[in-house]
Amino acid sequence: TDTAPIPTPPGWPLVGNAFDMDRELPLRGFQGFAEKYGEIYRLHLPFGSPLFVSSHSLVHEVCDEKRFRKPVAGALNEIRHGVHDGLFTAREGEPNWGIAHRILMPAFGPASIQGMFTEMHEIASQLALKWARHGEDAPIMVTDDFTRLTLDTLALCTMDFRFNSYYHDELHPFIAAMGDFLTESGTRASRPSFMSILYKKETRKYFRDIEVLRQTAQSVLDTRRKRPAGRKDLVSAMLDGVDPKTGQKLSDSSIIDNLITFLIAGHETTSGLLSFAFCLLIKHPEAYRKAQAEVDSVVGKGPIKVEHMNKLPYIAAVLRETLRLCPTIPFIARQAREDTVIGGKYSVKKDEFLICILAQSHLDPKVYGKTAKEFDPERMLDGNFERLTTEFPDCWKPFGTGMRACIGRPFAWQEAVLVMAMLLQNFNFALDDPTYELQYKQTLTTKPKNFYMRASLRDGMT
Ligand code: HEM
Repeated sequence: TDTAPIPTPPGWPLVGNAFDMDRELPLRGFQGFAEKYGEIYRLHLPFGSPLFVSSHSLVHEVCDEKRFRKPVAGALNEIRHGVHDGLFTAREGEPNWGIAHRILMPAFGPASIQGMFTEMHEIASQLALKWARHGEDAPIMVTDDFTRLTLDTLALCTMDFRFNSYYHDELHPFIAAMGDFLTESGTRASRPSFMSILYKKETRKYFRDIEVLRQTAQSVLDTRRKRPAGRKDLVSAMLDGVDPKTGQKLSDSSIIDNLITFLIAGHETTSGLLSFAFCLLIKHPEAYRKAQAEVDSVVGKGPIKVEHMNKLPYIAAVLRETLRLCPTIPFIARQAREDTVIGGKYSVKKDEFLICILAQSHLDPKVYGKTAKEFDPERMLDGNFERLTTEFPDCWKPFGTGMRACIGRPFAWQEAVLVMAMLLQNFNFALDDPTYELQYKQTLTTKPKNFYMRASLRDGMT
């Protein structure tokens, strides 16, 4: 069959499209190309010539696990220096992925996540107390405080370890090492490998940071072995769990890979979600009012309990709509298993990379109509959400796809619902600068840039 040409922005001899990239905000550049060249285009970049797909129908097609897999390349491949074949960075077929996946799936199931509610509540209360003490005239650096929240929650729930981030202006050494490790992983991925000789100092620091991460995780394990906690958490699931398929347990090294992986995968994604959600709510007073009214009628003034978590459908819709417009992981990568044709006309070679631009496929007017770019939580209320995702499978993919979809989704969801509910219950929020318009900052994930708000207490904290 005849195949159609795939558009490519013109670029330059030798360097291809390297200089066409939006350095500050690659996502903006990729979305711009999608607006100009359509649902599929190719860029010639230093590390290869991936295809970028951005319509619902093409994203749906490349989500097919029989024809496509998740590749591990670029920054993900660099992160393997620190966490090897941990869940997020494992290549297809690596045995440790299967063992960890089977042992950990139940540990991330609804029952164990509910078991973490008390600890999540404790960290969320610390945040509410901090903001109450700030008073209503102090601008709050929203993304930083939500990152303290998500890191402390993950460390407490998964490792019984306290970073106490609210009590320090300086980051805990583990968090500083993790931040630098992630940034440098991204930088290394964008440098041609022959240049690495020029970056000896950076390389030494990179591997020292990895040591800090691994030694901290090792000491969590050692402490737990000396003093079993008598609680069922992810550390005990990993220490005691036996893979039903192979009868194997996780090695210490694999446990450490995954403990660090949870912190990496779970903190910025969830803090970005919360930050975008508050920004969008403040910008949409009608939705804001409905969300707060729901909390007032379902929870009232008393303490928020685990039973409330699935009784807040409007909050759930706000979070879904936030992740549609602002997916904190804005791309997922796929790779063809064999030579194939997509969209009935575009030929794709075996092992070729495809980047799904979720931030763009989530705006497809064929799925979301004329109001696709607007924030409208109503369309994400349970019944509507079910209808949408049944009629257009894969039209909402912020947690990834197939076997390699997010294992931490129930964890993130409970944390986000709890934090939204608690904050709306106790505070009224406003922009610090009333003229602020949502801007993005992109590292390995996206979050709002320069977003400050003010919090004034409603009557009496709970
Ligand atoms: C995988 C998004 C929270 C742990 C993924 C993937 C996405 C994602 C898109 C697939 C990545 C790919 O295809 O390469 C999110 C979002 C979150 C969130 C938007 C919050 C709103 C969390 C949390 C944890 C976590 C809280 C840990 C407690 C993981 C792990 C994987 C993963 C381990 C790899 C799973 C595998 O390949 O087997 N996540 N995530 N995530 N996520 Fe999340």
